[in-house]
Amino acid sequence: MIEHKKLINGFEYIEIKNTSATAKIALQGAHIFEYKRHYGNPVLWLSESSDFEHMKSIRGGIPVCWPWFGTPRALPSGRMPKDESLPQHGFARTAMWKLKNTNETDANSTEVTFSLSHTPESLKLWPHRFELELHVIVSDTLTVELKTTNLDDKAFLITQALHTYFDISHISHVRVKGLDKKPYFDALSMKEKIQDGDIIFNREIDRVYQDVYGKILLIDKNRTIKIQNEGSSSVVVWNPWVDKCKRMSAMKPSSYEGMVCIESANAFDDARIIKPNESHTLKAMIN
Ligand code: BG6
Repeated sequence: MIEHKKLINGFEYIEIKNTSATAKIALQGAHIFEYKRHYGNPVLWLSESSDFEHMKSIRGGIPVCWPWFGTPRALPSGRMPKDESLPQHGFARTAMWKLKNTNETDANSTEVTFSLSHTPESLKLWPHRFELELHVIVSDTLTVELKTTNLDDKAFLITQALHTYFDISHISHVRVKGLDKKPYFDALSMKEKIQDGDIIFNREIDRVYQDVYGKILLIDKNRTIKIQNEGSSSVVVWNPWVDKCKRMSAMKPSSYEGMVCIESANAFDDARIIKPNESHTLKAMIN
């Protein structure tokens, strides 16, 4: 079943239900803000204080960070836009997307595609003509594909992320496996480092890992979530911890205890150049 729904403030989303799972996806940002299988806790974390407002990113779920991840300064040197007033994580996560296609494939699986194209406003922020599609398959696995097509007559460069917030029992119970020996940029010390063993959380963590091709495991007390990415070799791991959490919008002071972000990315050295009439797809499979 696919239903179009509206919150009281007019915020539109679609609700998907099949025999495997339920999901909710907002038209603003093509933002998946709920994905639950019919057993266990929700897979995605959503802040209780997220305010579903026009032009404000939902805190939780899977924000689509595009056409740049972080601040535009994070683009490789020589290619960085100068204007630092540009929005953090790009403009796609707050833009209004179109629902392009829906398909109830079978009782267990539903597919939907959203699309976004350049507008006079987007061209002021980022001077390129594009088509962006988010293809989502809601089943026992949540599959998310973000396809960028260059409609311009010159190549452009993107960094991007599917900025997934995972729901966890408690931050002190989880560890992340699959990144041992991987090089990472530590955004807190601004240094390049090498991961030693699994990641555990006992302080703020904000890192961009490179050369990641295998499965990543989020191991919690009573469940393990697997993340497999394609078209990507970078992964961001982030938890704001106590102090940053207090300063952040749409977060309660204790919110950091119940979430961790493991983001399927093309960030930093994994930026992609897309030639005219060519496409690049970033894909995440979560189960
Ligand atoms: C993460 C960054 O990807 O996103 C963090 O690594 C940032 O530094 C976080 O704080 C949240 O960003 P925002 O713009 O959604 O508050």
